[in-house]
Amino acid sequence: MAIFGYSLVRAHDGSSVGLPSPSTATDGAKRLFVGRARTRWAIIGMISFCFILLFGAWGNSDDDFEATGLLSAAQKVGQYTGRLNPTKWHNKGVLYGDIGLPSFSNGGRRPQGDDLWVKGSGRKHLSYHTPFNPDDLTMTEDECDAFFPGLYKEIDRSVEFFTTKQEYNKEYLEYSCDDGIWTHARVVIYNNRLYLKYYQQSDFTRSQAALALLHMAVVTSREKLPNVEFCIGMMDWGSRGKFGLDRAPDLEDVWMMPDYGWFSWPEHVGSYQELRANTARVEKEIGWEGKVNKLFWRGSMKVGTADRESMFKIADGHDWNDVKAIDWGAPDRQPVPMEDHCRWKFHGFPEGNTYSGRLRYLQNCRVVIVTHEPRWLQHWTHLYNADWDSPDQNIVFIPPPEGEGEGVLVHDGDGREFRDRTWERLPEVMDRLLANDTLARKIADNQWNFFRERYITPASAMCYWRKALWGFSKVQRYTVDLSGSETSYESFVLKGMKGADPFNH
Ligand SMILES: *[C@@H]1O[C@H](CO)[C@@H](O)[C@H](O)[C@H]1NC(C)=O
Repeated sequence: MAIFGYSLVRAHDGSSVGLPSPSTATDGAKRLFVGRARTRWAIIGMISFCFILLFGAWGNSDDDFEATGLLSAAQKVGQYTGRLNPTKWHNKGVLYGDIGLPSFSNGGRRPQGDDLWVKGSGRKHLSYHTPFNPDDLTMTEDECDAFFPGLYKEIDRSVEFFTTKQEYNKEYLEYSCDDGIWTHARVVIYNNRLYLKYYQQSDFTRSQAALALLHMAVVTSREKLPNVEFCIGMMDWGSRGKFGLDRAPDLEDVWMMPDYGWFSWPEHVGSYQELRANTARVEKEIGWEGKVNKLFWRGSMKVGTADRESMFKIADGHDWNDVKAIDWGAPDRQPVPMEDHCRWKFHGFPEGNTYSGRLRYLQNCRVVIVTHEPRWLQHWTHLYNADWDSPDQNIVFIPPPEGEGEGVLVHDGDGREFRDRTWERLPEVMDRLLANDTLARKIADNQWNFFRERYITPASAMCYWRKALWGFSKVQRYTVDLSGSETSYESFVLKGMKGADPFNH
């Protein structure tokens, strides 16, 4: 009660706590004081009234005790458990059956295991043209098949390889995982949950992002996933039996997974959904007419040096050239935010160490990507259509060089010099695109509709991962079980691997 100033009132005017009479107040100060006391009483009254409203009008008799603070915490717990006591209900003649709940212990059949998961969407007549939500991560296999036909080519290829050329047995799994340094995670998917058996941090946040994306695909599955175990490598190239980011055409033993960028690349771009929202905003703001009619590229010459030098030297001196190496000291050579790449119509796309990480981001713009036949494949690059005669052309390849030519001088990553002709016919290609804006627009529109709105959507990445798990399960020649020593993904994101020092990894 001291909090209401009650004791203070008492000490000062010496009157009863009942009703101080205004008539006894003779001097101004006392009148004022008594006035304050009245206000306090009015406040106390209002608060008491509110308590009565809260616990009296809406509570039952037990709650009134609570309102007066007379029940201890332990008493309250007893009170609640008493309410939930089925025996009490029983005594009152209330049985589970009476309130419509089936009794599982007594002949009632509870669905078991796989039966808990849906099988298919239940939607009829699904086709490529059925409207779909590109952000829906929960698509079932029949929806994935209908909306993204042709997306799963790499999975089929890996299944074929591990069916006809190499058996994926337990020994091969160990061989795949124990290659010294290239394995970043050994994962188990069991009953639609993700577990880790091994984890090694990759360069920057790649390994976290890749696992987060896989986890997303696992927990958004409405269908039962197969139990599988495999390893993941996060280097710039895939290796022996593992899931990886890309592969050269002759690296046949690699399983391709969606790039970690589908989750987030916080060091450069941010989350995929943020990037998509940002590019959509820029596109809406400028439209096709508002774009610069030049070939754009900004980047580092430290990776993919030869390919990038080759493009630079050919583009040099042309009106349409806006290709520059980033130079932090030069105002016109600063990095350009990814979404602002949408402000140029044409984009030179050389490769990096292996593949170049900007592809999936550029494809989120309505632009024409000018590149060469890919030397490194990612899970969706087989969907490129570089055919000038096709109404569906969605990318431009520089045609191979013709006749004799000495090429331009370039350097590989180790500084060795050689001559390269990859980009030799770039001027011819740019002249063709710049001469016919309808043509350029058509390719950019196809790029947008086919990739941005379909084959590189968040929904497509989820479909691809789940299909890959199914594909892998077809060739996996071992039964997957949990030993108890695995770390659940949920705990991993909070504290790292079981037994590992959470502050030292
Ligand atoms: C420009 O490209 C469009 C679309 O491919 C084509 O229909 C048209 O004939 C081209 N115009 C010229 C002048 O070549």
